[in-house]
Amino acid sequence: MREAYTFTKKSQINVVFNQKAEKHEVAPFPVDERVTHEPLEKLETKLNRLVGMDQIKHMVRELYAWLYIYRKREEANLKVQKQSFHMLFKGNPGTGKTTVARLLSDLFRDMGILPKGHLIEAERADLVGEYIGQTAQKTRELVKRSLGGVLFIDEAYSLSRGGEKDFGKEAIDTLVKQMEDHKDEFILILAGYSDEMEEFLRMNPGLPSRFPMIMSFPDYSGSELLDIAKQMIRDREYIMTAEAQKKLFRHLHQKIVENEPHFSNGRYVRNHVEKMIRQQAVRLVRENSFDRDALMTIRACDLALDDHSMITHADEA
Ligand SMILES: Nc1ncnc2c1ncn2[C@@H]1O[C@H](COP(=O)(O)OP(=O)(O)OP(=O)(O)O)[C@@H](O)[C@H]1O
Ligand SMILES: [Mg+2]
Repeated sequence: MREAYTFTKKSQINVVFNQKAEKHEVAPFPVDERVTHEPLEKLETKLNRLVGMDQIKHMVRELYAWLYIYRKREEANLKVQKQSFHMLFKGNPGTGKTTVARLLSDLFRDMGILPKGHLIEAERADLVGEYIGQTAQKTRELVKRSLGGVLFIDEAYSLSRGGEKDFGKEAIDTLVKQMEDHKDEFILILAGYSDEMEEFLRMNPGLPSRFPMIMSFPDYSGSELLDIAKQMIRDREYIMTAEAQKKLFRHLHQKIVENEPHFSNGRYVRNHVEKMIRQQAVRLVRENSFDRDALMTIRACDLALDDHSMITHADEA
């Protein structure tokens, strides 16, 4: 029986295994109605909603094919190379790391690689304790809660911040031990800014070989940020006038030119969209205009570049 894939475009894939980039072409897959790929279809729907991220999308699609064939070989009683799926994510804030981690945990669950597929997001404080022995215990408990799913540790480099004497070192050692003890039972994703992650790996030479997949999340361009904003606006059932779009693009472009060290990409856009919506609400109340068109339309004057609103969202920091 022929196998079918719904991604039929000839595409370049750049996969990084053990930090070595391999480039190869994926020829079009024949389509066969007799074979269904529900997990792939679900994945495609989610991937297609993400702006840009071409390399990540290719990598995730390749991962699907890899997992699918892995399963098929098992079913055919052929040799399969036992493989761990721990990953390193490198990129600035708001570049989609958590979004992709969530999508992957769903994929692993849908394909039966992980039974639960839940995602636990943690950071240094969730692993590192204040006295001897507490760190190992905290880390073990965190891993225990993650079994059957994905443990995502953000700003992972902060674990080796304090050097040899710091409890962060104990957290790393415990994590490595847990990866051995619970092989195949959970997937660990360590995430952080590119430079700091490089430094982190250099300081922990035993780590890189345990993470067969490395994904890099580049910063978005001005037009990608605008596309993300447009999508968020659409999802919330608003529309932006052409003038508002132009003004927003100029503003986002300016932010990129300013090159702030930790500009938060998609997160910045989301916060900005929320601010525009609040500004529009204030304008509508002032104008007494509540018809459907008015309720939906964001105008250039709603782009509050200096926001004095007292309302903040939990994750705006
Ligand atoms: N490619 C994209 N397309 C659409 N929306 C995106 C994209 N990338 C990020 N976003 C949106 O930007 C916001 C931040 O994304 P996310 O939380 O995944 O980033 P992150 O890299 O985990 O950030 P941090 O490092 O700050 O935790 C989310 O609202 C997400 O939906
Ligand atoms: Mg995140």
